[in-house]
Amino acid sequence: MAQLWGGRFTKETDQEVYEFNASIYFDKRLYKQDIEGSIAHATMLGAQNIISEEESETIVEALKEIRNDIDEGKLEISEKFEDIHSFVESTLIDRIGDTGKKLHTGRSRNDQVALDMKLYVREELKVTDMFLKHLLRAILKIMKENTDTVMPGFTHLQKAQPTTLAHHMGAYFEMFKRDRDRLLDIYVRMNYSPLGSGAFAGTTYPLDREQTASILRFTGPTLNSMDSVSDRDYLIETLSAFSTIMMHLSRFSEEIIIWNTNEYRFIDMDDAFSTGSSIMPQKKNPDIAELVRGKTGRVYGALISILTTMKSLPLAYNKDMQEDKEIVFDAIDTVKDCIRLFEGMISTMKFNKERMRASANGGFTNATDLADYLVVKGIPFRDAHGIVGAVVLKCEQEKKAIDELKIEELKEFSDVFEDDVYEAISMETCINKRLTLGAPGAMDKVIPIYEEYLFNQ
Ligand code: ARG
Repeated sequence: MAQLWGGRFTKETDQEVYEFNASIYFDKRLYKQDIEGSIAHATMLGAQNIISEEESETIVEALKEIRNDIDEGKLEISEKFEDIHSFVESTLIDRIGDTGKKLHTGRSRNDQVALDMKLYVREELKVTDMFLKHLLRAILKIMKENTDTVMPGFTHLQKAQPTTLAHHMGAYFEMFKRDRDRLLDIYVRMNYSPLGSGAFAGTTYPLDREQTASILRFTGPTLNSMDSVSDRDYLIETLSAFSTIMMHLSRFSEEIIIWNTNEYRFIDMDDAFSTGSSIMPQKKNPDIAELVRGKTGRVYGALISILTTMKSLPLAYNKDMQEDKEIVFDAIDTVKDCIRLFEGMISTMKFNKERMRASANGGFTNATDLADYLVVKGIPFRDAHGIVGAVVLKCEQEKKAIDELKIEELKEFSDVFEDDVYEAISMETCINKRLTLGAPGAMDKVIPIYEEYLFNQ
């Protein structure tokens, strides 16, 4: 057992209690952040003459060495310590003696851990944002190559109207673009330093919180020390945004799984991103997409978990909050892995353009356009809708596509049908005439906007 607080105790902590209480097993991941925060704190203590300049320098130098030694594997983080804060401080004291004991002046582990977690999550928001940007690049590439790849669009998972693969992919571009905006919002809102809040009531030392905030590249210090040590909102926001990313990935995964079925065969998964079956030799399974879909539950679970942990917690710090770490670490790792693998999967996937086109042709996806054709010829839309309904019924009975009916057959439903009808309901026309901004025919207007967006941010 190695702890920082034995003074007022007359008995040793029970071993099981000690282990139950300890967080070193998982918060050792925060060693860089912990040391970075301590360096800022020690620098400020020196500048404020709370400790001498020389002491401050000695501490800072030693902290940098400790960080280096851990980075290079020369120093192992010992799980005998209660948490990462105790480990770093004790190692410091081992190395520089009594001067090291001055580091914790005017600081509590409560503001220390609040800071460490913020530094960690802040960085991870940036990394996740970068991964999302790479994913957007992959999506945009598919869009550019497929502005005239015809496929059916669906509502209720029933073929509805023809669209293009570029249009379909563009929907996901929008989703992940919003996800990036959310991450940025969170970053801006959370980027205030809790360091200097002490246990919850600040300290009597003349700390310069502006200075530590600025060393640590925060917008500024937080303004209420009690809130600073109790605030985990930014974790909840992060997990909420991450859950939304996973929700988007799960929808995309589900479509990929459907497109990959024997019935659809819209896509071919690259061998490197599929797996086989131990018994059925013919199988090539979309396991990555399924796993991403499945891991969505795990990330939602993290959100609900921390919301529940924080519910009804009285101010200020409570040990319950230690439960934030494993959950947040796991969710962040999961989301990052999912985005990266997903990007690889969609970048290597091949689209079976003929199948997609044939499928669009086959499902009366041009029925709306047939009705619109009648409207142009002067028939009110409601009547046109009824006429086309009857045409579709005949086609279904005869197992034909609309454009396989002869003009004489069509004329039985309405005498306004002319030879130009075939052109009017061809897949190309259906798409190219949908020119409203955001529609399949207008993707060439949207793609440059996306390109500029990715160039600028
Ligand atoms: N391991 C603790 C956590 O993660 C650090 C803060 C401990 N503070 C305290 N007063 N026990 O929340």
